[in-house]
Amino acid sequence: MDTSTGASIRNSGETAEEDSSTRALLHDAAERAANYLNSLATRPVVPGAVALAALQRLDAPLPAHGSDAMQTLALIDELVSPATMAMAGPRFFGFVIGGSLPAALAANWLAGAWDQNAGYNSVTPGVARLEQSALRRLVALFELPPETAGGFVTGATVANFTALAAARHAVLARAGWDVEADGLFGAPPITVIAADEAHPTLLKSLGMLGLGRARIVRVPDDAQGRMRADELPQIAGPTIVCLQAGNVNTGAFDPFVPLIEQAHRGGAWVHVDGAFGLWAKATASLRHLVEGVEAADSWATDAHKWLNVPYDSGLAFVRDAHALKAAMAINADYLPQPGAERNPSDFTPELSRRARGVEIWAALQTLGRAGIAEMIERNCRQARRFAAGLSAKGYAVLNDVVLNQVLVSFGDDARTRRVVARLQADGTCWCGITVWQGHTAMRISVSNWSTGDHDVEQSLEAMLRAAASV
Ligand SMILES: Cc1ncc(COP(=O)(O)O)c(C=O)c1O
Repeated sequence: MDTSTGASIRNSGETAEEDSSTRALLHDAAERAANYLNSLATRPVVPGAVALAALQRLDAPLPAHGSDAMQTLALIDELVSPATMAMAGPRFFGFVIGGSLPAALAANWLAGAWDQNAGYNSVTPGVARLEQSALRRLVALFELPPETAGGFVTGATVANFTALAAARHAVLARAGWDVEADGLFGAPPITVIAADEAHPTLLKSLGMLGLGRARIVRVPDDAQGRMRADELPQIAGPTIVCLQAGNVNTGAFDPFVPLIEQAHRGGAWVHVDGAFGLWAKATASLRHLVEGVEAADSWATDAHKWLNVPYDSGLAFVRDAHALKAAMAINADYLPQPGAERNPSDFTPELSRRARGVEIWAALQTLGRAGIAEMIERNCRQARRFAAGLSAKGYAVLNDVVLNQVLVSFGDDARTRRVVARLQADGTCWCGITVWQGHTAMRISVSNWSTGDHDVEQSLEAMLRAAASV
């Protein structure tokens, strides 16, 4: 260890004792976590009734006196582990949920031990450098413009919020208005354009920015949920156009080339919500789906979805670093003063935050370009296998399976709901329900690093079994 900074702090027998009990506790946590992860391949995906009933023990009031940390951990493991949904496992196909790559999980633990407040470079130089490295690698992976700035946030919702705050700054600055100083009262109006199929969290982000959820100009989509380029309205004045890479139901992508070209011709800022779809860029076989996306001005994506790092982890990217910094940076006398180095908190809504870039870096380093592409392409191939297996038995697949999302109808709406309820109760795998263009559908989303082809076959059998029994 580098002791060049001064005094040693290891000088008493008591410290050694504390060290060994902390070590034992952390070993115990690792053992429990490994046992949990081991159980995922065989346990039912849904927690059982007994486990759920036992949760009532958590209603106990705060004890008057503390207890041993090892006992605390044992109690949490005993009560909560069996009551978890096996989202981290290979057969959870609800929402768009990744697992945690072992390397990312382990890095997350190490970063937890570091307990760095990652807001300032000068006080957390190690993680600030690591996060910068992760950002550079991601910008290169997604082939975004090299000058692109980024921020580590909690998820795509806040990534959308962060990038759209930069957009709000830029379009109003061009109109001579300083939105950070003067707010939106009396500001030139901003036209916000988004598709009917925009994700609800994008609308929420716009609402949080004072841009309103209801005043958004909505553009119709085609049958797959792609914004229709021929319906993009004429653009004039401060305008933000919101596009999407990966529709949450169908996985479809907006046609970026014509839309971004038209939007830029009108002087608009183009933002892309690519919560999971942006990862198609990291593959040879799917990258055509995101052709032209790099011409946009900002992008939001998740790492906790398809990069398979632990929650919570999203990324905001903005081509114009100045706009992002103008929207996010703060200054105060007690904080380190601006210097030449990049301060992470100049690019995120949060000042204090955990160093979530650590596990992102670990995932990128461990997988490499080839490993990332393999994971994404494998999940998409598995989605196609689900679609083929279900349609071979006569069930209707409602979307073109271009990515990792499959929508299946088992007949009328009520029957589809009954089949999904039966499947969920069976516990082999878990899929959710959605309504796609008026039709109730089972929604399969494949985005876990550990999903093997045998998991897909086992789950397909469970789906067919559920459908046959209803
Ligand atoms: C397209 C899209 N945007 C945004 C989000 C919100 O992401 P998060 O839950 O990470 O905030 C999702 C979540 O599924 C999504 O699919």
